Amino acid sequence: TKKIQIAIDGPAGAGKSTIAKIAAEKLGYTYIDTGAMYRALTYKALQHQIDLSSEEAVTTLLKQTVIELQPSPNGQLVFLDGQNVSSEIRSNEVTSQVSTVAAHGTMREIMVERQYEMAEKGGVIMDGRDIGTAVLPNAELKVFMSATVEERARRRYEDNKQRGIDSSFEALKEEIALRDKMDSEREASPLVQAEDAIYLDTTELSIDEAANAILKLASERM
Ligand code: C5P
Repeated sequence: TKKIQIAIDGPAGAGKSTIAKIAAEKLGYTYIDTGAMYRALTYKALQHQIDLSSEEAVTTLLKQTVIELQPSPNGQLVFLDGQNVSSEIRSNEVTSQVSTVAAHGTMREIMVERQYEMAEKGGVIMDGRDIGTAVLPNAELKVFMSATVEERARRRYEDNKQRGIDSSFEALKEEIALRDKMDSEREASPLVQAEDAIYLDTTELSIDEAANAILKLASERM
């Protein structure tokens, strides 16, 4: 069997990372969470009090930044200039600002190039917003994963509860809807289903059912 590239895109909370991680483990593939790279840059920009709306400032910052993704048993560790920031990049502050940073086209060109290099050899499952459309246009399998906004908010709510974080369902729903809107309406490679992507609605699927759907599609393309 050949080592293929699998691109998984979709809105926030659709289950992309959970499902991609499981599928990657079953296939012995590398899982690459590209959202973590935009989050790491956002975290650094906040620390350095960079104007997040300035395309030039954000692009210059990225050029001076090393972001490394390291596979780990729980998925992936994220290093920013050598420092482990895996939990810091999941903060509410980063989550609420990342779409502003991610909208800058000149910064994205650099990210896309770095991501392409990470996936070049195949044997990867990469998740994000523009993987099938911009990063890996020739991926053997492209999946666009989604679920209703209610279901996505419910999953985030349950996730948080498990981690001991108390959150408001309504606030989560609003945050998710706003992030989707910003990601879909930006000019630079917006969140959109690639023409050759397969749409997977996970609203009614369990994690295992969704992972199996991906594995089946992958095996047909190896
Ligand atoms: O996947 P995650 O929710 O961690 O992504 C965080 C944010 O990073 C997204 O809301 C989006 O603004 C940005 N992103 C992107 N392109 C990607 C992955 C993430 O613009 N390929």
